[in-house]
Amino acid sequence: MQNTGSCRRLYVSGVAALMVSSFGFAQGAAPSSAQASGAQMPRVVEKDGRWAFMVDGAPYLMLNDQVNNSSAWPAMLPKVWPAIDHLHANTVEMPVYWEQLEPAQGKFDFSVVDALLAGARQHKVHLVLLWFGTWKNGAMHYTPEWVKRDPAKYPRVTGQDRVAENGAVVHGAPGDTMSPFGAATLEAGKTAFVALMKHLKATDPHHTVLMLQVENEINAYGSRRDYSPEATKLFEGQVPADFAAAMHVKPGTWTEAFGLEAENTFQTWSIARYIEQIAKAGKAAYGLPLYLNHSLENPLATPREGRLEWSAMTDHVLDIWKATAPSLDLVAPDIYMAQYAQYDKIVKTYTRKDNALFVPESGNTAAYARYPFLALGYGAIGWSMFGLDFTGYANAPLGAAVIDDKLVDAFALDYELLGSMDLEIARLNFEGKLQAVCEDPAVRSQTLVFGPWTVTVGYGQPQFGGMRPDAAAATPNPDPTGRALVAQLGPDEFLVTGVSARVDFRPTDTTAGKRRAYIRVEEGTYVDGKWKMARIWNGDQTDYGLNFKSLPQVLHVTVMTY
Ligand code: DGJ
Repeated sequence: MQNTGSCRRLYVSGVAALMVSSFGFAQGAAPSSAQASGAQMPRVVEKDGRWAFMVDGAPYLMLNDQVNNSSAWPAMLPKVWPAIDHLHANTVEMPVYWEQLEPAQGKFDFSVVDALLAGARQHKVHLVLLWFGTWKNGAMHYTPEWVKRDPAKYPRVTGQDRVAENGAVVHGAPGDTMSPFGAATLEAGKTAFVALMKHLKATDPHHTVLMLQVENEINAYGSRRDYSPEATKLFEGQVPADFAAAMHVKPGTWTEAFGLEAENTFQTWSIARYIEQIAKAGKAAYGLPLYLNHSLENPLATPREGRLEWSAMTDHVLDIWKATAPSLDLVAPDIYMAQYAQYDKIVKTYTRKDNALFVPESGNTAAYARYPFLALGYGAIGWSMFGLDFTGYANAPLGAAVIDDKLVDAFALDYELLGSMDLEIARLNFEGKLQAVCEDPAVRSQTLVFGPWTVTVGYGQPQFGGMRPDAAAATPNPDPTGRALVAQLGPDEFLVTGVSARVDFRPTDTTAGKRRAYIRVEEGTYVDGKWKMARIWNGDQTDYGLNFKSLPQVLHVTVMTY
């Protein structure tokens, strides 16, 4: 079955013609029948510093789950799809393993990829495929056996020489990771990735697969760089002129140009150059959007922990990737830091004029369930937690709870809520009309300004009575779950939703002595792109602001001043 009109996005929101809802706001351009059949290539586009992921000709919001590393096998899928359905995800991130795809050199087995495509179509979701090729978490573990067993042809990173206690020089040992200078490795990796892209081109005309990740969290694992003779010769030579210019450093050797960061920069550049060639060849075969994910240091640590040991994959190397791997549409942060200040800093860092924010991995404890809203507040084109499937595995101490319905529920609430209006959210965000926040446990309220209207989002507020800005910092909320999203539909009209939050409006100009009144607060939902009212909120539901509990409730709000 093709996914024409069957992906969850279209299933939920329908074929969105250029409609004006009963609430009176334009829904965006209608996909033609060609668009609805998926004929247009997905694209990541930028306008005025904001980003959209165009799918079927309209901005699309990825509400994803990345399955566990060993879950993308046909035998495991019956335990994966129920979690996806439960979660209300509209897109699933699934690995494709080089060792499986090309068990013998030149002999490709697409049966697993085909099973992923078939399952996704059946479950009405899109896919983002993760190419676990030369590097996976910096290691070479997904390379095929014929690569692993031939280190002479497919060299590993060479560690640094060291001087033993007896004064003898101990030559650097081979690492558990591939050298980015292995010409045969690059050729083999490129061939495999191109074969995958060609297969998708031939078998996926309606774009069940929206995007691919090229490699996974690359680095030099335990070494600052490759110390092979070839790498060292390059490292001691001049920085390529175009790279020096792009990095705004003076020409010279790597050490002259980058000082303490020289080895890290060199290793990053080496891998980025390798990945650029894989990505470029893959894109030439089939032009789907491509990205790479980064693992991260603690962005608030000073000096940054681990900077010199990890190398090649942290946020401070974004500029190197931009200069060296232009075939990647974006680079994306994997965020396993639950603290608000860390999470906020990371998503801010990856939101750039030259980089769309996409969070392909996040922790999967309940504390992370509020972060899709924070990411949307920065204009994210998509978000994912990691590893919510029912295969029995969880990144938790052995014996600790595995992924269960209760944990999935925490995220399912987000996806049910956001998924019911994913197209609207993506479009409003691209148009700059949407703001979203989540609870910072250090404060009790946050404000969003929409010209003459200021929206206050309060956490831990009383049901009745005025919003208390209060003594929050002194008593940080130990269990922050609040989140809210507000989009402006007209001068005094707003789309509002939230969880564990109280949202209220007031005139931005406080000098005129004006107050706000709720003219109409409709609770409803989007059906086939049209707003359908279910009831009007009034009385206790609005007298002291809009109190959101833990339900997927969406409001259309009209306000006035008096
Ligand atoms: C980040 C990696 O990209 C994932 O594949 C996975 O290994 C997680 N870390 C941790 O489980």
